[in-house]
Amino acid sequence: MKKKIIVTGGCGYIGSHTAIELIGHNYDVVVVDDLSNSSQDTIDRIEAITGVRPTFEQVDLKDAVQTESLFSAHKDAAAVIHFAALKAVGESVQKPLDYYQNNLYSLLNTLKFQHQVGIESFIFSSSATVYGIPKALPILETHKAQRPSSPYGNTKKIAEEILEDFTKVTPNFSAISLRYFNPIGAHESGEIGELPNGIPNNLMPYITQTAAGIRDQLMVFGDDYPTKDGTPVRDYIHVVDLAKAHVQAVQRLIKQEQEQSFEIYNLGTGNGFSVLDVIKAFERVSGQKLNYQIVDRREGDVTELYASTDLAFQKLGWKAELGLDEMIESAWRWEQKYRGKEN
Ligand code: NAD
Ligand code: WQD
Repeated sequence: MKKKIIVTGGCGYIGSHTAIELIGHNYDVVVVDDLSNSSQDTIDRIEAITGVRPTFEQVDLKDAVQTESLFSAHKDAAAVIHFAALKAVGESVQKPLDYYQNNLYSLLNTLKFQHQVGIESFIFSSSATVYGIPKALPILETHKAQRPSSPYGNTKKIAEEILEDFTKVTPNFSAISLRYFNPIGAHESGEIGELPNGIPNNLMPYITQTAAGIRDQLMVFGDDYPTKDGTPVRDYIHVVDLAKAHVQAVQRLIKQEQEQSFEIYNLGTGNGFSVLDVIKAFERVSGQKLNYQIVDRREGDVTELYASTDLAFQKLGWKAELGLDEMIESAWRWEQKYRGKEN
């Protein structure tokens, strides 16, 4: 019998790539999404890539009634992977209540109603943003979380605290929080990838949209940081590697291999690249010259952040395999293919 996994936010960027990996590992996938930042076309694309159509449930998880009926229809699921959230850092500063409401009600409803029907395994999409300004690098999971500078980031910190409290008093319930560093790239087919709403906030989609002629110029936010070339350093990770880590985490919970009822893992490569490294690599890989300009720093950006990846390797048996060139190549392929389809 195939094990059923509920993937909330499964029409989105990381959730859709994870659905593909789960199907590839013979899981029965139920995608749950309210389509607030995605499209149902993703289900067709997952089917085109895998040959298997996941079940789709259009549910707004911040609505308790909808969430309860979702879980009573899927009592037989083995685990939930919870991607559903709003994720735009800048927007969260402008609309804090929307972010707290969506991200925290969705989490609370999911935990309450999955537990009510006896689904006792949960994986959470957290973020390296919970580390704030790192005191040492590479950053270890034991580094104390700090209050992130944005309401979005704070929803991740609060969510981890909720999970800690809930797992402590709920026998049999286990959770894993995965702290993503900077996910970029796309599935090798070019059929699915990152599709930001409006003007991208993140570096990689801004680069590919600039190269595709959708944006005039990339703004590089500051070259006066204390790094090798003055631009900030991040740990970029291929979304397909990231997706594979979720399969490992699900297996750990299903086989009841977890050592604690709440575990936290960094998901990064352990390598840091500066903004200018990424731009140069993009120009080399794509053969395109990128129009960019150095401007002032963006508020809230940290100088340097990259992961210690040892714990994920030891406990999940997972290590990122794809390099920066593969991340860029796949992101560029997706951008070109998507724009070709659009015209
Ligand atoms: P995404 O916006 O592409 O996917 C999130 C999905 O959740 C969307 O399809 C959206 O429609 C859905 N959703 C939002 N609110 C919902 C609700 N109330 N009910 C049902 N569905 C809802 O984002 P993503 O980049 O795939 O991110 C997935 C998760 O990973 C998020 O929790 C995000 O905060 C986290 N994360 C992302 C990054 C990143 O850089 N992309 C980094 C760290 C953590
Ligand atoms: C990377 C680097 C920018 C855009 C954010 C969130 C974090 C997580 C991942 C969800 C920085 C520079 C960017 C541009 C630029 N998301 N940059 N010009 O800030 O590390 O992390 O996404 O959880 O919470 O904060 O990623 O891609 O925005 O920026 O120069 O137009 O690129 O200054 O140094 P970041 P990013």
